[in-house]
Amino acid sequence: MIEIAVKATTANLGPGFDCMGLALDIENKVIIKESNEEFKDKKNLIYFSIKKVFEIVGKSIPKLQIDQNIQIPISRGLGSSAACIAAGCIAGNILSGANLSIDELINIGTSIEGHPDNIVPAFLGGYTISSLEEDKVVYFRQEAFTGFKYGVMIPDFTLSTTVARNALPDSIQYKDAVFNVAKSALLSAAMITGDGKLLKFACEDKIHQPYRKHLIPGFDEITSMANSMGALGTFLSGAGPTIVSILDSEDDIFEIEMNKFLLGLKGGWSLKVIKASNIGVQAKSI
Ligand code: HSE
Repeated sequence: MIEIAVKATTANLGPGFDCMGLALDIENKVIIKESNEEFKDKKNLIYFSIKKVFEIVGKSIPKLQIDQNIQIPISRGLGSSAACIAAGCIAGNILSGANLSIDELINIGTSIEGHPDNIVPAFLGGYTISSLEEDKVVYFRQEAFTGFKYGVMIPDFTLSTTVARNALPDSIQYKDAVFNVAKSALLSAAMITGDGKLLKFACEDKIHQPYRKHLIPGFDEITSMANSMGALGTFLSGAGPTIVSILDSEDDIFEIEMNKFLLGLKGGWSLKVIKASNIGVQAKSI
């Protein structure tokens, strides 16, 4: 029997579309054991990912039972799919005896998810920048800066990544690409060095948030209110609908004020103030 712990992730962080990610301290636990009965939900992403590893190493998947303690909100832009995929790939590696490296598992996980920005921090924890080079992921990973914490505003409605990706245009203007190149470079500098003053500018984005925000009632109100309440920077978490503010770790006003503000807003928004996590996916035999 294997127990796997895997964290939530936020991706894009504003301008870093499909490449930047950060693990957050919200954890799912998955328990996997061999069973006498066939696993019924073959579309389950954990099962699918285990099976993928077995297929790659040319073995057939045994009968399994999968139990989960889910804390990562589903279809909210907090990496719940990446968490299932990372957990499944790790489990597949152990159960099949494949002994694939973590980088090989990251490549498999990315082939399932389609983009590496949530997958890499789900596997490794910390702050990550990833680039998909054909079928291989090249990445940079750094321990998250301890001087920041994160205000995570989660609505009671979901948004499918497919719908949010379908909202994107086929092409963008050259000046918007230049804007995002500059902002994402500033953002990586801020995340690596902890220079929070940069974040007010660095979290801005012109290539996905403007096209998605109509799918998230309350986005403009929350973003401008968060920034006026002292957030260092605010962005759509992954494909949304969750919104994340980067806060100074000493900030104790934001949580009080934002909770009051969210109470008056439609959408059933709730706030969690949490730390980043430097812990990647972990498996142990129990
Ligand atoms: N980078 C992805 C997107 C994250 O914004 O569509 C969603 O998984």
